[in-house]
Amino acid sequence: MLGVSGGIAAYKSAELVRQLCAAGAVVRVVMTRAATEFVGARTFQALSGEPVWCGWSDDRSGMDHIDLARWADRILVAPASADTLARLAQGRADDLLAAVCLATEAPLLLAPAMNQAMWRHPATQENVQRLAGRGVQLCGPDAGEQACGDVGPGRMREPEALVEALAESFASGLLAGVKLVITAGPTREAVDPVRFLGNRSSGKMGYAIAAAARAAGARVELVSGPVALEVPAGVACEQVESAQAMLDAVLARINDCDIFIATAAVADYRPAAPAQQKIKKQAEALSLQLEPTTDILATVAALAPRPLCIGFAAETEQLEQNARRKRMHKGADMIAANRVGDGQGFETDDNELLLVWEGGERLLPRTTKARLAVQLLEQVANLYARRLSSDNETSQPYAKHSA
Ligand code: CTP
Repeated sequence: MLGVSGGIAAYKSAELVRQLCAAGAVVRVVMTRAATEFVGARTFQALSGEPVWCGWSDDRSGMDHIDLARWADRILVAPASADTLARLAQGRADDLLAAVCLATEAPLLLAPAMNQAMWRHPATQENVQRLAGRGVQLCGPDAGEQACGDVGPGRMREPEALVEALAESFASGLLAGVKLVITAGPTREAVDPVRFLGNRSSGKMGYAIAAAARAAGARVELVSGPVALEVPAGVACEQVESAQAMLDAVLARINDCDIFIATAAVADYRPAAPAQQKIKKQAEALSLQLEPTTDILATVAALAPRPLCIGFAAETEQLEQNARRKRMHKGADMIAANRVGDGQGFETDDNELLLVWEGGERLLPRTTKARLAVQLLEQVANLYARRLSSDNETSQPYAKHSA
């Protein structure tokens, strides 16, 4: 849940909501009356797709403040004005936002924003100390030029940094200290300078896994084909076009990688000799000679030492048999298989996955790609832990840590 209190920085909260939603969060906004003087509730409603509460009059059931307090996994108040900090420090419940903060058991994060003199005032500093002492996380403020013309501490932290702070607060630690390399999206294979062979991959699954892995404490490097998605906060990303460029980018960062997840829909073939100039229309039929690309997953799986390797399989039939065959064929540790065709798989927001590994399988029923990513990573973390413990038993270094 996002609380918005009164201050010019409230305009940045609209961008914050957009970025949180892009990262897969469901965001409900509670505004103080003063906040509505700066940004309209409809802005937040449109960006979040959720209802917005602006005060007690919006507590339709009389219990909305309790429901919101229970519903929220995290409450971030951004901007948190000097007055809001004071009221929260006192434990007041004199408006809906303060009441929700008082009633919740969810972790509370505050992004202060105010004039530098107000921030420096001993009263504000005492309030901040009091709140921090209760386990409230303070994010910022940053220092710099202020809307009032002053220079100093009091600027609200930028939305990217707040998304990152929230992601860190969710960090399960499941993959803490682990480095992941993830491929995502389609590749484009040049036919001539203006045309390419591509596919319908949206990259959504790979980006969702990158966001979830980051939230689980991993260091994440994404190698992405062309997609219309925002890179999740805290994730390093190299944009590539062709299968060869994707392979090169992966190999350049695979040395200290612990887990490799190949979600990209890599072209299996590329034009053997892309034309140097634009191919002109002609009366006769045109033939393109295609040559196979290198299989990135199989290449990484054949390295020694190598990371734990997870592949994806998009199948139209015999899901389990094909997934098992593909796992063996590519030397992957696990394959996540899904059915494609009939509107399933590509370009959708949800999916269903069958995970197969040596001696086991698990069906992840249809849900959003963001949730699937979390469930998939639980299984990946299991396999990774198992691999590490069998390495320790045999003293055979598997991953770079012990190599
Ligand atoms: N993959 C890869 N490099 C390639 C082709 C595929 O890394 N050149 C990876 C994909 O990212 C995915 C897995 O291999 O994780 C399976 O890809 P898929 O295209 O389904 O398998 P193919 O080997 O191409 O088999 P087919 O198209 O015949 O089903």
